[in-house]
Amino acid sequence: MTSFSAKASAPLRRTLSSVSLAFLACAFGGTAVAADEIKGSAEAAREKVSMCIGCHGIPGYRASFPEVYSVPMIAGQNQEYLVVALKAYASGERTHPTMDAISKSLSEQDIADLAAYYSNLK
Ligand code: HEC
Repeated sequence: MTSFSAKASAPLRRTLSSVSLAFLACAFGGTAVAADEIKGSAEAAREKVSMCIGCHGIPGYRASFPEVYSVPMIAGQNQEYLVVALKAYASGERTHPTMDAISKSLSEQDIADLAAYYSNLK
């Protein structure tokens, strides 16, 4: 079950144009990191979210166009949930064309950083 909260999102006009940029950014990431003791850093994620914001909303604005394209809102989502969700796409346990490709390009560190970042977004 998904449990992301349905907070009202502000209308956002510039998001659509960044969707294609998000695809270009998918080529980055993917360095292997030892699986133990990975701590997420919201600060480190700031350079990584460029590949997410086209679909999941611009950081800080909480908008994700649910009415145009059904994308779950991940801002403010539980940190552990985000890690589990991203790993589930990477492992094939959960599947969605875009998220499969993106999650496979992420290292464990990337996932931890992104989860820290998005869980702290209000
Ligand atoms: C091209 C659009 C697109 C991009 C880019 C994208 N996502 Fe997603 N994301 C989606 C869609 C659509 C879903 C819902 C898929 C499904 O139904 O399983 C999703 C689902 C998720 C989920 C699961 C949410 C939940 O409530 O279960 C997480 C976590 C997530 N994305 C994180 C990210 C992160 C982090 C990035 C950047 C590294 C990213 N996404 C980039 C479209 C995108």
